[in-house]
Amino acid sequence: MAIQRPFRLCSLAELQAREVAGFDPLARGRDALLALISDEQVHAYLNRCPHEPVAMEYRKDKFLSGKRQHIMCFAHGARFEKDTGLCIHGPCLGKSLQRITTHIQDGDIYIDLEELIQA
Ligand code: FES
Repeated sequence: MAIQRPFRLCSLAELQAREVAGFDPLARGRDALLALISDEQVHAYLNRCPHEPVAMEYRKDKFLSGKRQHIMCFAHGARFEKDTGLCIHGPCLGKSLQRITTHIQDGDIYIDLEELIQA
């Protein structure tokens, strides 16, 4: 499917260096999604916990558990697989983060703003 409104998140190299990062493509003053690299793949998810619709990080870009194995919601401690967004521990066990499709072009990571707006 063609991207209707491409938005560049950052370069692959930058995300590799940062490991995980939040982004505010809609300029609402809060990070609407997070992106990370796991097993050499880029994954992006809506920054909205399936338990309660709140942002998950405890401060800017702090989305990972202590050992950095899982995405974590710091509101009530839910843990999610990096590769799938599936909750494997916590109050939303079995539910998943909403994935946002990423597109890689010329070493840069893009999303479609339309998908984010509809999410
Ligand atoms: S809001 Fe995320 S675990 Fe409760």
